[in-house]
Amino acid sequence: MRKKIVAGNWKMNMELAEGLKFAESIDTYFKAKPSKAEVILCTPFIHLPGVSQVVSKGKVMCGGQNCASEPAGAFTGEVSAAMIKSTGAQFVIIGHSERRSYYHEDDAILNKKTKLAISTGLKVIFCCGEVRQERESGSHLNVVRKQLEDGLFNLSPDEFSKVVIAYEPVWAIGTGLTATPEQAQEMHKYIRDLVKVRYGKDAAENLTILYGGSCKPSNAAEIFSKPDVDGGLIGGASLKKEDFCAIVEAI
Ligand code: 13P
Repeated sequence: MRKKIVAGNWKMNMELAEGLKFAESIDTYFKAKPSKAEVILCTPFIHLPGVSQVVSKGKVMCGGQNCASEPAGAFTGEVSAAMIKSTGAQFVIIGHSERRSYYHEDDAILNKKTKLAISTGLKVIFCCGEVRQERESGSHLNVVRKQLEDGLFNLSPDEFSKVVIAYEPVWAIGTGLTATPEQAQEMHKYIRDLVKVRYGKDAAENLTILYGGSCKPSNAAEIFSKPDVDGGLIGGASLKKEDFCAIVEAI
């Protein structure tokens, strides 16, 4: 059975002390009430060493939201995959739509980051998703197929086994608009079918595919009930303890 995961993407929110306190409270909650899903907190870089200390490994894990495309050296302002790993983090998000659009990260760069992160020992939460105009013109499946083909599908089967895919329709991120459970299921099944053709039946069955985009306590259970939706990547609602815990419990 593939893993269920709910990951919080804090984005650029919370200062250090606030973030550590918040992570500790999430950890305390799931220690008392173990969840069926793996819980991952994807925090800003500066929180990672501290968060990794305050969470009980195995119950709540942590990850970065991006990493450099180069392993080390003269790249002012960058943070390497090895540095992230050295904090105790196990995951890194690659290819979030905010990285793709605001920082112009293309499929080739994202592929490089993904391979580098995996070679460092991190697991990758690889994001894909179409913008509103692509959904409206009916090209959403093709857009996501190309993102996966160019960003992921040159990975070896072993590398690919370290990947979680997050489908995040860009029009649903932070907008209050959510994909319907049927829209999410259609895309998740399509992704799983592509993976089946590329990496085989077992890899497709074992792949965890998360939904992200205005996921909240009121819609999580219905989205997660779909057979190819294995959890969520949560933005805004991951900053509120009650909402985040309720979403995890919707699994
Ligand atoms: P929201 O849940 O705020 O829509 O953000 C989703 C997201 O971008 C998670 O990576």
